[in-house]
Amino acid sequence: MNFEFTEEHLMIRDAARDFAQRELLPGVIERDDKAIYPTEQVKKLAELGFLGMLVGSKYDGGGMDTISYVLAMEEISKVDSSVAVIMSVNNSLVCWGVEKYGTEEQKEKYLKPMARGEKIGAFLLSEPEAGSDATSQRTTAIDMGDHYLVNGTKNWITNGKSASTYIVFAQTHKELKHRGINALIVEADTEGISVGPHENKMGMRASDTHSVMFNNVKVPKENRLGEEGFGFKLAMKSLEGGRIGIASQALGIASGAYELALKYAQERKAFGKEIINHQVIAFKLADMAVEIEAARYFCLKAAWLKDQGKPYGHASAMAKLYAAETAMKVTTEAVQIHGGYGYVKEYHVERLMREAKLTQIYEGTSEIQKIVISRGLMD
Ligand code: CAA
Repeated sequence: MNFEFTEEHLMIRDAARDFAQRELLPGVIERDDKAIYPTEQVKKLAELGFLGMLVGSKYDGGGMDTISYVLAMEEISKVDSSVAVIMSVNNSLVCWGVEKYGTEEQKEKYLKPMARGEKIGAFLLSEPEAGSDATSQRTTAIDMGDHYLVNGTKNWITNGKSASTYIVFAQTHKELKHRGINALIVEADTEGISVGPHENKMGMRASDTHSVMFNNVKVPKENRLGEEGFGFKLAMKSLEGGRIGIASQALGIASGAYELALKYAQERKAFGKEIINHQVIAFKLADMAVEIEAARYFCLKAAWLKDQGKPYGHASAMAKLYAAETAMKVTTEAVQIHGGYGYVKEYHVERLMREAKLTQIYEGTSEIQKIVISRGLMD
């Protein structure tokens, strides 16, 4: 048992913190308010190597471990979760699957540009009628011999418009149910693909979330990722790592709100003293600090298991559940501690509270995490 970070971990954490404070904080309120995609910020994130930090150096990635990823995601999410989710989807939902299951040709052509952050990836699993119930894919990929013909609609797609590379999950053999689902690498500019309007979201408004429609889209056979019928399992395995990313994002949202609330409580006076000296506020902060620390351990444990090559799906579901619930509680309390100031945009905490809500929903709702966790108890 070792609770100490390495020098390299601390360097990565500090680099992410510095980037977030210097490049993300200015303008974060405006980008969120007007739903402006963070083009420049994503470019800088790529230059720093964060967009492909989990990919091995052989494929032009940062070759960093998952602990580093947790630390970087926390720091970036403290300030701007729209940028954090772009980074998380690219790293753990898209690059991971291509690196783990892709052919050398697929890695050369698709993984390397994404690992360098020159191109962005998106993960197209959700559909209008298949969100939590992910096995019920309606999108079809009919086997036409040398290619698949893809038809259907995907929705809630993070990076839906900015991505050049999609991983699309589609049903090839309906009679085989989830065992008939394939994962396909699809170039976003392929004929027959159209992207719906930007979703006008409650939070993380600067990340691009869209529906993506497929109308007789031809996808070469060699773009199938993994074995025939392996698509659903690939999606589930990708989400195991994705959930470490979102758990770390929720952790960052919670710790960002906590830091702001702690500072405010030490400055703001009421009834003749700083409000932190009122026990009702001090106890709120104590509860927040405890829950954040527990969420951090959950995230690091899941990351450590993944880095050790041990099973981590159960731990990542626990981390996502606990961190997302903590983010919601902590951000709500941070707004409360700020009083009226907490309800206006300049103080950031209302935005963090809106961002926290999404961590309870995407990459598997809190209720889905409980399904995964409870099934794991019986293994
Ligand atoms: N690894 C490998 N295989 C797995 C697996 C895992 N973690 N979890 C399930 N499977 C396999 C099962 O073994 C089973 O295969 P076999 O029948 O061949 O044995 C198959 O998958 C089906 O599993 P279940 O019977 O457990 O399926 P289910 O219908 O009961 O539901 C579920 C499983 C866990 C609820 C799943 O549907 C799920 O995770 N739903 C949530 C989906 C989700 O997280 N969506 C997020 C969208 S992506 C997103 O938000 C990205 C973004 O843009 C930010």
